[in-house]
Amino acid sequence: MTAAGRATAVAHPNIALIKYWGNADADLRLPSNGSISMTLSGLETRTSVAFVQGLPSDRVTIGGQPAQPQAAARVSRVLDRVRSLAGIPRPADVDSVNSFPTAAGIASSASAFAALACAAAAAAGLDLEAPDLSRLARLGSGSACRSLFGGYVEWLPGSDDASSFSVQIAPPEHWDLVDVVAVVSRAPKEVGSSEGHRRADTSPLQAGRVREAPLRLAACRRAILEKDFSALAEIVEQDSDLMHEVMRTSMPPLDYASPVTQALRSAVRSWRATGLTVAYTQDAGLNLHLLCPASASKEVAERVRSFPGVLELLVAGPGGPPRVTKADDSG
Ligand code: DP6
Repeated sequence: MTAAGRATAVAHPNIALIKYWGNADADLRLPSNGSISMTLSGLETRTSVAFVQGLPSDRVTIGGQPAQPQAAARVSRVLDRVRSLAGIPRPADVDSVNSFPTAAGIASSASAFAALACAAAAAAGLDLEAPDLSRLARLGSGSACRSLFGGYVEWLPGSDDASSFSVQIAPPEHWDLVDVVAVVSRAPKEVGSSEGHRRADTSPLQAGRVREAPLRLAACRRAILEKDFSALAEIVEQDSDLMHEVMRTSMPPLDYASPVTQALRSAVRSWRATGLTVAYTQDAGLNLHLLCPASASKEVAERVRSFPGVLELLVAGPGGPPRVTKADDSG
């Protein structure tokens, strides 16, 4: 077997401040609404790719184990696009490792597909700009297209493959926000995001959520640019609550509330009412993300650590873009 050059890339996950929920085109992952996120430092996925003559088909290893068929098919979708852009017919050998536990409530698909897009493009010798890498990552996982940029990022929903990609709103050093993740469950979620997106339009509330999204995006963008934490807190919590209302009223319904998350959400609201700068947001899982300025992160972490039912904390600040760490021709 001969390999054309192996490339390795490292990318970070992100936490959505304005959520992506529902697709206008599920196959291309064109979202029903735009979204905004913060890329998370510290946590990362490292993925290496080589296009190898003689492999019968793509070989995908995740955390040392062969990937499940569904995950492998998503990886091949991204690789197929790279092969067609580069004119490479060969299958790929893909090896991916996360630095953080996949069941810890941080979406690993975002960092995984961002790293895959960068490593595959580099291994194929493609010199793609960040927006094109963002479009490539989007084919594997929607939220991954935001992890192509560091700091504060907006996914412009677009109307076709060419117009749906992310842009940076502000670099990581613009605002030192911290995401304190309260892990309340380590069990893998029963229903994944892709299935959740398919159900979104069955909720009578989804149309209103999507219609008003531009207003929430504008408010969030402004709060970030002006570093206005209380404005950010209000819009981020409202947007998260709206998505969870859509989930709860979908058919069949999806409910990611547990007594601990509910209690913690109420606690965050009352802590903020008494002067602590903190806000919550929750993705498609039970764990709760607590956002705060770095100056409040110690106090927030202390309160969360001693909160009944919280198993552990992960703490991340604004992270940078992916890095291609190794690209060579030795195979
Ligand atoms: C609730 O990007 O994980 O985290 O495109 O099917 O991989 P797929 O979905 P995914 O959905 C993310 C949903 C969310 C909100 C968000 O990150 O914007």
